[in-house]
Amino acid sequence: MNRVSWHSDGFSLGDETFRIVKFGMNHDETDGAHVIFKPRWMIQRYEALIKSLKPAHMVELGIYKGGSTVLFHELAQPKKLTAIEIEQKSLPTLEKYIEGLPANSLKVCFGINQADKSRLVAAVDQEHGGTALDLVIDDASHYLEETTQSFNALFHSYAKAVFTSSKIGRLVMKSQMTSAFLTKSH
Ligand SMILES: C[S@@+](CC[C@H](N)C(=O)[O-])C[C@H]1O[C@@H](n2cnc3c(N)ncnc32)[C@H](O)[C@@H]1O
Repeated sequence: MNRVSWHSDGFSLGDETFRIVKFGMNHDETDGAHVIFKPRWMIQRYEALIKSLKPAHMVELGIYKGGSTVLFHELAQPKKLTAIEIEQKSLPTLEKYIEGLPANSLKVCFGINQADKSRLVAAVDQEHGGTALDLVIDDASHYLEETTQSFNALFHSYAKAVFTSSKIGRLVMKSQMTSAFLTKSH
């Protein structure tokens, strides 16, 4: 597994460079760095999580500029990572990264709402062919209704583990999961 190497305003992982951004900062990606909207401590938790789970089939909900997608792909080096994003947008830095990948291991599906269960399941079916998901990371709407919809669509059908950024620190294993969790923790 690749290891994160920290710089003053971001980090490197494999051959990729990442810039950490916050609200109000310059979020452009013209310097070739992958823009990621997560603090250092959260990235360190993802690094530990992925090291421990070694997920082969993953879904990410909500990608913004795509930096988190590249992070997860570099950390896990999965058989397949499917990223879902509600907006239709062009992300040249992410596109360049995908072009350089040797296999069809990363797919980004734009224009899909995490709450649209039928489109979400269709996209995941198409990309993963019915294989169980090892990890779902939800950093999309952060709203209860939408989060619950995608949780119910993906977790009950496929996932062994779900990690939601809005509840960072909670890794929810299937046996422990109840719908009450989502209600309580919001
Ligand atoms: C917090 S940003 C994601 C940040 C990114 N994961 C990162 O770490 O750099 C949330 C993203 O979710 C997308 N989003 C918001 N609501 C959504 C929904 N209902 N379904 C899918 N994506 C959604 C937004 O367009 C935005 O790109």
